[in-house]
Amino acid sequence: MGFTFLQKFGAALLVTVWLVWGSNMIGNMVIPVRDPPPSSGTPTAAATPSGAAQAKDAPIEDIQPLLASAAVDQGETLFKKCTACHTGEKGGANKVGPNLWGVVGGPKAHSEAFSYSNALKAKGGEWSYEDLNHFIANPKGFAPGTKMTYAGLKKAEERAALIAYLRTLDDSPAPLP
Ligand code: HEC
Repeated sequence: MGFTFLQKFGAALLVTVWLVWGSNMIGNMVIPVRDPPPSSGTPTAAATPSGAAQAKDAPIEDIQPLLASAAVDQGETLFKKCTACHTGEKGGANKVGPNLWGVVGGPKAHSEAFSYSNALKAKGGEWSYEDLNHFIANPKGFAPGTKMTYAGLKKAEERAALIAYLRTLDDSPAPLP
């Protein structure tokens, strides 16, 4: 007994539907369908908790309460991050950056023999603990256009230790706050 055209067509349709549905099922089992992650394509500041976006926007933690108990010897070790560009000893040479003897409490752009950026010169005033804290945390944030190409020291305890050490580079160190 032969099949009518309609029977053949119906059978073919059924097989096709089963194949499409079945392969879809198997596909879903092999590669689970997931919603795309919400941040894909357009990362926002909230989706990148670390990195440049946050460094720019995050408030800079005050170090004054940390200074009195800051570890000066840790600061001396941390100062190695700076010695590529700075010397610290009295009468030390200017390198890429100025010698830092007497910088804490001293005037900004304190070395007469160093050619500072206008950005830093325009700041004026003295290097208070607060200003140093901001400058070392984020040089370009504190003085946009500064020649100091250093990304910044992000940890408040490290800045406190480093600034407590910088303070000792002076004939008469500035009083602690
Ligand atoms: C890549 C080189 C470089 C590094 C690394 C660097 N500095 Fe500087 N620093 C400079 C330059 C250049 C200037 C002068 C900035 C200007 O004129 O805008 C400067 C300026 C300064 C000043 C201001 C000095 C003044 O006379 O007013 C301080 C304070 C300072 N740096 C501290 C540090 C500390 C602390 C570190 C380490 C955490 C450090 N720097 C790392 C290059 C550097």
